[in-house]
Amino acid sequence: MSRLDNRDLLHTAERAARAGAAALSPFRLQREALRVDIKQTNDFVTAADLASERAVAQIIASDWPTHRILGEELSSGVALGSEPTWVVDPLDGTTNFIHGFPNYCVSVACVVDGEVVAGVVLDPTRDECFAARRGGGAWLGGTQLHVTDAPGLDHTLIGTGFPFRYLDRLESYLGSFRQIAQRAAGIRRPGSAALDLASVAAGRFDGFWEEGLGAWDIAAGTLLIEEAGGLITDFRGGRGFLQDGTVIAGGAAVHRELLEIVARYQLDR
Ligand code: IPD
Ligand code: CA
Ligand code: CA
Repeated sequence: MSRLDNRDLLHTAERAARAGAAALSPFRLQREALRVDIKQTNDFVTAADLASERAVAQIIASDWPTHRILGEELSSGVALGSEPTWVVDPLDGTTNFIHGFPNYCVSVACVVDGEVVAGVVLDPTRDECFAARRGGGAWLGGTQLHVTDAPGLDHTLIGTGFPFRYLDRLESYLGSFRQIAQRAAGIRRPGSAALDLASVAAGRFDGFWEEGLGAWDIAAGTLLIEEAGGLITDFRGGRGFLQDGTVIAGGAAVHRELLEIVARYQLDR
């Protein structure tokens, strides 16, 4: 393969994500083989993360030998520059996986000139493959995905992630949580940011906000949101999310209200 066509990139992303999921599978049944290591406070890596990342990287390298790979576990130091770069979270939801809580995924995205052009979030627990390429829509199998058109936060279901690794952020987070909880019908914290973004793209969540994320957590999900007609920004309302790790996503009205609240409470950094 040489010419960059988003369709080819998406094809690779899907095959790579499936290879990652296949590598995770044996560990589901033999949790004692996981070998859990602690990277930092509440941040774990297991033999399953590593096996998945190797499987994903193998597919990418054989399809696109000149491309770079930014993978959470094996190549997290790779910078996002102008060259085509694959951004991989081989297991998003490691803590869930360790505990046998069935909510995790493999996330694979291709970034060209700083923009995500193809991305897949694969949920092996439900056999759901969320896929998008820039300009081609977001899809779950044969179903095109659309964010909801909720006119505001009232009656919505909102996803989030807690700042459990940066507890100094907890107070400001709880400030926005309190405000959002008074408006939304419910707030969920399933534990896989990539799947949370896929849930917004699929209209299962009306919106989502979280900070402290890595590019690998969100790269594929950001494209799913945009191709599903939604808005995704960082906490300042800009497009710096891959670098700054803050995200707010949703349909236009929900995004606007979330941004307003989050900016009030969580921009005190
Ligand atoms: C984590 C999950 C979680 C989010 C964390 C991420 P990991 O990814 O996406 O939902 O709250 O910030 O680091 O460590 O399971 O790949
Ligand atoms: Ca992750
Ligand atoms: Ca991970």
